[in-house]
Amino acid sequence: MTESQVVLTRARSADEYREVLYSNLEEYDRLARMIGDMLFLAKADHGLIVPQREAVDLAKEVRQLFDFYEALSEEQGVRMVLSGEGMIRGDELMLRRALSNLLSNALRYTPRDGAITVRIDQPGPGQMRLAVENPGQTIPAEHLPRLFDRFYQVDASRHRTHEGAGLGLAIAKSIIEAHGGEIAASSEHDLTRFEALFPASGFLPDRPLTPP
Ligand SMILES: Nc1ncnc2c1ncn2[C@@H]1O[C@H](COP(=O)(O)OP(=O)(O)O)[C@@H](O)[C@H]1O
Ligand SMILES: [Mg+2]
Repeated sequence: MTESQVVLTRARSADEYREVLYSNLEEYDRLARMIGDMLFLAKADHGLIVPQREAVDLAKEVRQLFDFYEALSEEQGVRMVLSGEGMIRGDELMLRRALSNLLSNALRYTPRDGAITVRIDQPGPGQMRLAVENPGQTIPAEHLPRLFDRFYQVDASRHRTHEGAGLGLAIAKSIIEAHGGEIAASSEHDLTRFEALFPASGFLPDRPLTPP
């Protein structure tokens, strides 16, 4: 707002106006995301987030997100690796959003030449696990239980390195829980891992899981 007010105090060149519009646009984009995220969480609080019950191919979703993040990961010199596969019953768009939040975090904290690994496996009958692992400074243990809190950021008080509002993990958690799953974070020896555990057939055990 200040920037716009300053620019409006006198006539400017078209270039100057353009520059301010671009800068405003970035800010609108950030605000729109934050409002969208806050609305999503407010709905989740009231049980209004009801996932679809489609058969979702987790490996396919991960590969699509790898494609989406490819330019960014190349720029950062970070590789993305997928292992395993698995189907769950759930809401493709929501699951993509949750996964995307995990991956975008992993990309931010992985040092150059590091690799992010997404592992999909079946730890037990009727269970599907998806873990996102990245190298990077160990998160001190006292922060781990709070990472999923709204607006919680480990590095918030220090220099801000990005524009996130601290809602990404809260959203991932509410999506995973709406699917009858759970998510946990661990971090040691410079490796951070977010692990989501789903019931393989989703929240509808009476309906058999069939691939699309
Ligand atoms: N892969 C990761 N490695 C290290 N720290 C992480 C990772 N993912 C999340 N965090 C920490 O958890 C905080 C909350 O993450 P998130 O809810 O996605 O919010 P945001 O990305 O907007 O900061 C981050 O600010 C960061 O401190
Ligand atoms: Mg985030």
